[in-house]
Amino acid sequence: MSSVVEPQPLAIQVTGLGFRVGGAEILTDIDLSVPSGSFLGIIGPNGAGKTTFLNMLSGLLVPSNGSISVEGRDLAGVAPSARARLGMGRTFQTSSLFNALSVFENARLSAQARLGGSANFWRRPRLGDEASNVAREVLEEVGLSKVALRPTESLSHGDKRKLELAILLAAKARVLLLDEPMAGVNTEDVPLLMELIGRLHGEGRTVLMVEHHMAVVVGLADTIAVLDSGRVLATGDPDSVIANEAVQSAYLGQPL
Ligand SMILES: Nc1ncnc2c1ncn2[C@@H]1O[C@H](COP(=O)(O)OP(=O)(O)O)[C@@H](O)[C@H]1O
Ligand SMILES: [Mg+2]
Repeated sequence: MSSVVEPQPLAIQVTGLGFRVGGAEILTDIDLSVPSGSFLGIIGPNGAGKTTFLNMLSGLLVPSNGSISVEGRDLAGVAPSARARLGMGRTFQTSSLFNALSVFENARLSAQARLGGSANFWRRPRLGDEASNVAREVLEEVGLSKVALRPTESLSHGDKRKLELAILLAAKARVLLLDEPMAGVNTEDVPLLMELIGRLHGEGRTVLMVEHHMAVVVGLADTIAVLDSGRVLATGDPDSVIANEAVQSAYLGQPL
């Protein structure tokens, strides 16, 4: 069953991380330790640097300072594709699916990329079967089997978010980097999506989730880090972070 995650979830260590572009200091001196199998919620005002931070982790942007290591392995110079092979999976603030393809094809392409690369894929039919099997399994796991043959563009926002998670499962991600998974999702779909993310974490994955929906963050995360103007303003368990006065004032009246 695809839900059995092997070998181990990944632990992440971020030390002195900084990112400057032009004259602007986007991230400054970020130190964060994410234990294997834990769930880190990342919150903070718009423009705080949350997405930039995930971009550093997934390798889309190169840090100006500091280091990121996974299971003790320094990621400097490791390309995004190689990080994916290490088990790091990323979703984006706005959906990054192939909208014209079916739900099934989106999941199958992810499995195919992991199993066999693309060059000689069609000459190895057994890999094709295996990718299709993986796609079926992960769509079942996220509850999208019934819409597998529909064009992806016809899905609700909530179902698109589920498909993005299925794509990470097909890629065998052991650490999930989620950028606002509730963005654009109808209120009635939030609990289902929350249950799904909690289940994927419960199966032994490490999760880093940027999210504005505080009930979701508090409900899922064991630790919350607050980013403000590119710095870590506070970290701790959800209750203590929400009670933190510096955190309250960083939001300047925005509801927490
Ligand atoms: N590649 C870049 N070049 C210039 N500015 C950037 C770049 N990436 C992010 N920024 C700026 O960095 C800040 C943080 O952005 P972002 O990480 O998207 O914040 P958040 O996700 O917390 O809303 C913003 O002021 C944004 O305009
Ligand atoms: Mg963002």
